[in-house]
Amino acid sequence: MSGDDKEAESETNETDGPAPIKPRPSGLALRYPTIEDLRKRARRRVPRFTFDYVDGAAGAGETCKTRNAAALDAVELVPRYGVENFTADTEVELFGRRYAAPVAIAPMGLPGLVWPGGEEALARAAQAARIPFILSSAAGATIERVAELAPDCTWFQLYRMPRNELAINFDLVRRAEAVGVQALMLTLDVPARTKRPRELRNRLIIPYTVGLRTFAHVLPHPAWLLALQRHGQTAFANYQAYAGEKVSNREVVKFVREQSGGSFTWNEVARFRDAWKGPLVVKGILHPHDAERAVELGVDGVVVSNHGGRQLESAPASIDVLPAVAAAVGDRATVLFDSGIRSGEDVVRALALGAKSTLSGRAFMYGLAALGPRGPSHVANFFFDEIAEAMRQVGTRHCGEIRDLVVRHSSALAF
Ligand code: LAC
Repeated sequence: MSGDDKEAESETNETDGPAPIKPRPSGLALRYPTIEDLRKRARRRVPRFTFDYVDGAAGAGETCKTRNAAALDAVELVPRYGVENFTADTEVELFGRRYAAPVAIAPMGLPGLVWPGGEEALARAAQAARIPFILSSAAGATIERVAELAPDCTWFQLYRMPRNELAINFDLVRRAEAVGVQALMLTLDVPARTKRPRELRNRLIIPYTVGLRTFAHVLPHPAWLLALQRHGQTAFANYQAYAGEKVSNREVVKFVREQSGGSFTWNEVARFRDAWKGPLVVKGILHPHDAERAVELGVDGVVVSNHGGRQLESAPASIDVLPAVAAAVGDRATVLFDSGIRSGEDVVRALALGAKSTLSGRAFMYGLAALGPRGPSHVANFFFDEIAEAMRQVGTRHCGEIRDLVVRHSSALAF
């Protein structure tokens, strides 16, 4: 193993818990100063079918993912100087709770595929960093386990399970309430399965069978294999109870495929509003009229998102519809933003254009893949430091002041 790998090996030492959230750059921050550095390491560190699952997107050209990043890069902020030197206060209040920074770990299916046991590392990092971790119901850890690890920072995301009047969805709501989940998120932007060419080329199926093809993918990744041996293959842990406690991973996946489908209708959103007394958020809003419809139903938050370019290749960049959605919602609900966030300045750009906070998925998954259990806390540190630095650069002491910045956003979509 090369020196580089030896050092990296120590960085993914399975016995390490999450690095403490430190205000000053650590060795990792010097070795991986950008998310792209983590992405490059991730590509070398995990089997290709898991890297492609994270890095891939919808469509032959994956152009929506590219558009997200390019449109964010094109947003220009006019800094203000002359204010006294200050330490930026990055705290944000969401639905009556204070969090350390305006960034959350987005709901992502199968973190345990990217790094076996990944969900627990994400939960621990969120709790240590005091940022929300939005557990996907398609993840490999139960809501009960994650709420135990991140009691102050756990939100829960649902996909539509329509059979028997959404019976499974409402039981998941009951379970979320029982463990004190802080917010419930309904994903609206998955009306149908989409085509992600890399997943098809890799013949990604869950659970994956360790055949010749997978063998060639996994063999060169000893640290990942060790984690797999320790944690086992990921599965849809939250659905096991409904498929049957004794049934295999494969049976659970088959059950989920049979039971899930479509996107929540507005009537169904209204039913969740009646059933769930906590903060209710809908994710995947790109049109202002959809945002207004959600607000009229009493939803507390909307996430402006194109699913990181993973659903509709021809969708506009999320940042380009954010101003219009924020204007439509006004102060009637909380506007959150995701898709393309890769730096503290991207977070400040989104807040300057009307979001109260942001979600990032791939950045945390790259961290997990590149560094194992220490990765998510490194990415949380990264965002904490970068957001604070960006706020100082533009002259905003508090997150609330960012909205007053002068912004040039030539690709904004008018409706
Ligand atoms: C995805 C699903 C899990 O984007 O939301 O892969």
